[in-house]
Amino acid sequence: MSRKFFVGGNWKMNGDKKSLGDLIQTMNAGKVDANVEVVCGAPSIYLDFARSKLDQKFGVAAQNCYKVPKGAFTGEISPAMIKDCGVNWVILGHSERRHVFGESDELIGQKTAHALESGLGVIACIGEKLDEREGGITEKVVFAQTKVIADNVKDWSKVVLAYEPVWAIGTGKTASPQQAQEVHEKLREWLKVNVSEAVANSVRIIYGGSVTGGTCKELASQKDVDGFLVGGASLKPEFIDIINAKA
Ligand code: 13P
Repeated sequence: MSRKFFVGGNWKMNGDKKSLGDLIQTMNAGKVDANVEVVCGAPSIYLDFARSKLDQKFGVAAQNCYKVPKGAFTGEISPAMIKDCGVNWVILGHSERRHVFGESDELIGQKTAHALESGLGVIACIGEKLDEREGGITEKVVFAQTKVIADNVKDWSKVVLAYEPVWAIGTGKTASPQQAQEVHEKLREWLKVNVSEAVANSVRIIYGGSVTGGTCKELASQKDVDGFLVGGASLKPEFIDIINAKA
């Protein structure tokens, strides 16, 4: 039951060719643990740029995509276009897509199915809001979100599940290692009951929400934390330390 540690950087809508080029140079020159799968989520307009500059040992992800290959959908990009840029991953269901842009579970499920059918790997994000945690319904929320994703997945080898509590994103309030482990363990149990034991044992469940060079090691030591999805700190040289959290 060895799950390769997975660290995603989500650059969100940040950077320009100059600053991202500098970041990429730092990453290419950095000493990174070869046992870690690293994927950088670039803004769609910089996917080509990121893929052409980043060392091949790093993967690249789009931060969103639409649910069909092509057509009259102004402003959207398709998995086919992402793949055409040499990019193999997409982040779907991020809390900012859900809560700023109003994406529904249903749409996220449809996008997941289409991205996987198109051959992309999917970093599927789930996570409860603060009032939901305080209301004691964290499990209910993340299980419901996971079910819609699971209903749309045939091949789990291409899926990474990212638990990102909304209250921890961009707030500096990292979940404690115990809080992260507790939810990850329950998610694995849910997968065991509702998908299969093999999938529960093999799927990477990564944590996101204010991960830093300072908080990553203890989080990474938790049994069911298989990596991170990093926002702010993925734009800094500190990202290298997070990649090497297990080293
Ligand atoms: P921060 O690391 O900036 O909290 O962002 C987390 C995130 O949303 C990654 O997808």
